Amino acid sequence: MDNRPIGIFDSGLGGLTVVREIIDQLPNEEIIYFGDTARFPYGPRPISELKTFVFEIIDYLLVNDVKFIVIACNSASAAALEDAQQYYNIPIIGVIEPGARAAVRATHCRRIGVIGTQATIASGSYMSAIKAIDAGIQVYSQACPDLADFVEKNETTGPRIERSVRWYLDSLLRAGIDSLILGCTHYPLLSETISKVAGDWVQLISSAKETARELKETLTRKGSLRKDNKPPILRFISSGDKEIFRKLGVRFLGQEIKSVERVRLPLRERVVGIEKG
Ligand code: DGL
Repeated sequence: MDNRPIGIFDSGLGGLTVVREIIDQLPNEEIIYFGDTARFPYGPRPISELKTFVFEIIDYLLVNDVKFIVIACNSASAAALEDAQQYYNIPIIGVIEPGARAAVRATHCRRIGVIGTQATIASGSYMSAIKAIDAGIQVYSQACPDLADFVEKNETTGPRIERSVRWYLDSLLRAGIDSLILGCTHYPLLSETISKVAGDWVQLISSAKETARELKETLTRKGSLRKDNKPPILRFISSGDKEIFRKLGVRFLGQEIKSVERVRLPLRERVVGIEKG
């Protein structure tokens, strides 16, 4: 038994789509979610900078005594999951392997599409994760630089979005994919438009469900589930505007966010002298 909270983070609100699934599958767990909205977006940033952010945020979550870390951001997972797993003693998972596994299970024709930010697509992480499971699968990737921005600003439907989605999916659909990984935690909010453009033949894969399943399995196996009859506390922390986070976050989380704490950057000032582990 371990009653400490799970630490989850993303560049902004997108990771709340993962939190939503975690709450669904692990309703008794406490959660601390950190949305780095002041530094959104992560997608166009260099890998080295993302690594610094990831280490800074994990240090900050450790000060808050979390038992497990979920990097609920594809760009951050692609940039730093491996390094973070090597450096820290605490268990850490990202969203890329879970999404890759779900897509490999779903595809019939062994042609998978992946859409994500520039950082995620340039890293080739989905390609490697899929090929590690089945080297014969063809993977077609496309960076979609402006889609997460639309979502973070609460624009999720309409002609502008549809035009962009059509443009980005064109080559993937011509390649004959039957499964499409939504390789950015913001994209589940665009599912309606993406489905419309991709057609019934293409199954949309979001990492959120599979990531929550992996988290549940790991906590169960380690005997680290929370055992407490008191209702769990969910904390939401933002490096940017609290009110925008609270209002827009509802759409990602699927439930009301009662309060949001603001933490000012740099986080390093808040974690001086902590022990790793
Ligand atoms: N949520 C981030 C991801 O999953 C994308 C948004 C960003 O560019 O920060 O990659």
